[in-house]
Amino acid sequence: MSETEELNWHDATKVSKLKNGKKKMLTVKGKMILLGMHDGAYFATEALCRHMRWPLSWGGKVKDDCIRCPLHQTTHKLSDGELVEWSPFPLFPPYGRLLGKMSRKKDLKVYNTRVLDSKIQVQF
Ligand code: FES
Repeated sequence: MSETEELNWHDATKVSKLKNGKKKMLTVKGKMILLGMHDGAYFATEALCRHMRWPLSWGGKVKDDCIRCPLHQTTHKLSDGELVEWSPFPLFPPYGRLLGKMSRKKDLKVYNTRVLDSKIQVQF
């Protein structure tokens, strides 16, 4: 994103639709995001794993303020999306090990969140 590009807040869902410990994939203004609540705080990231585009809402685990993809265990920090571990467990699909080596390591995009008028908003 260029420095001149303006960030805007967008409604993602109602506060009542997301309980602590839950996460869901949503499309907000045409962008697929993962929105969740962990330890009482909201987080939002891009929806698909950076390794092989697995939807993180399908089995992604939040632990130690990180999100871990269930497929090959790629792990990112929730605070800024920094890569912690890249595809350490590429057993499925079988070509995962090869792709894990070939694909370039990337951080996960994270988005700011806030609550306004009983709605969770994300910023991008
Ligand atoms: S698709 Fe997520 S770690 Fe491979």
